[in-house]
Amino acid sequence: VNEKNFARRAAALPTTFPAPHFPSEMGADTKIFDSAFAAPELLPDLAELASKILSDHKEELLQYSPTQGQPYLREWIAEYLTDDGCAGIGPNNILITNGAKHALDLICRLLLDEGDLVAVTAPTYFTMLPIFRSFGVRFIEVSQDTQGIIVDDLSAHFRRLADNDLPLPKIVYDIPEFHNPSGVTTSRERREKLIELCGRHDVLIVEDSPYRRVRFTGDDIPSYKALDTGDNVLQVGTVSKLIAPGLRIGWVAAHEQFITRLIALKSDGGTSALLQRLVYEFCMSPAFRGHQPQVSSTYHEKCDRMVVAFRREIPEAEILPPDGGYCLWVKLPEGKDGDLLTAKACAADINIFKGSLFFANAPVFPENRTVPKNFIRLSYSYATFDEIDEGVRVIGEIYRAL
Ligand SMILES: Cc1ncc(COP(=O)(O)O)c(C=O)c1O
Repeated sequence: VNEKNFARRAAALPTTFPAPHFPSEMGADTKIFDSAFAAPELLPDLAELASKILSDHKEELLQYSPTQGQPYLREWIAEYLTDDGCAGIGPNNILITNGAKHALDLICRLLLDEGDLVAVTAPTYFTMLPIFRSFGVRFIEVSQDTQGIIVDDLSAHFRRLADNDLPLPKIVYDIPEFHNPSGVTTSRERREKLIELCGRHDVLIVEDSPYRRVRFTGDDIPSYKALDTGDNVLQVGTVSKLIAPGLRIGWVAAHEQFITRLIALKSDGGTSALLQRLVYEFCMSPAFRGHQPQVSSTYHEKCDRMVVAFRREIPEAEILPPDGGYCLWVKLPEGKDGDLLTAKACAADINIFKGSLFFANAPVFPENRTVPKNFIRLSYSYATFDEIDEGVRVIGEIYRAL
């Protein structure tokens, strides 16, 4: 294979196959705390529904379907978002995609050219970093605290870019609910401030909100999309965290002028009609109403269990228990090597992620290039209580021997 045949965006792509990673590829003894897999006990039983819809709607389900997504599912999502405080949303503001990641990839295709700047929090959702990088962008890293993205920091970046005659970022990418990985939920004040700043500078906000309905404690805070009055927010949603990730149904909610263009870029022949119908019928069924509280309470219990285990095993670790979501962000004391801890844990069949994965590490201003090594990220979503206890016990042992 001649390297010269590849596009520029392929230059940094891996040349080896990915290591085994998914539960179906791992041994039974492996403790799976790395990716945010769904709790197996929460996956709904969709067998009867699938069989019924295949006989009732055979032609619809086995035919090509509209690229934008089935009208009834877009209608349902528009109502769901309206109930969530988003005014003026109708089915034409929705594009159905193959999960949130597909939606985010399409948004990048629509908005980003090589050399553009993208603002991300430090840390940020690590899966987005290679997606952004494949578009040849450069990063602005914005700090976060317990209230969420530090808008004053972003504003200082904007000023500095302007002082250096550099363009502002094309987008600010953020996860305001139960941020992955930090677990932080952005306060209402910060949300309003971010929307005001980005609106004033005509910078788009990409709101990635997969966990919004997986809240354990505290009250809902209006989403960026709900607070925005200027059509400056593209919101991405998914059924992965509330129903099942294998269904691969997500969406973009945005102004029609984004949706029409995104449709033209979506070259997948339409998201599976079968899966759209299945999701729709499940969401319309009485089972869905009972499902949501069960999801929240199950993940709440698993989260508490992992927090307690860490406080027992590594009391000096700093943890901010999240108000929802699937993940825990653990700060080890300065000088402790989270990368090494991760390597040793994985070698002992305890799969976790090193925190350093979650930093963009290619910021426009070189002095911002700091990748702390004293973090690890764990998902409590997939494991059982016993696996959480045992896995964190072994992590504690490895930590003490570092
Ligand atoms: C912040 C964030 N965005 C997007 C996704 C992916 O969602 P989907 O399964 O719909 O692609 C995840 C999944 O872990 C996530 O944590």
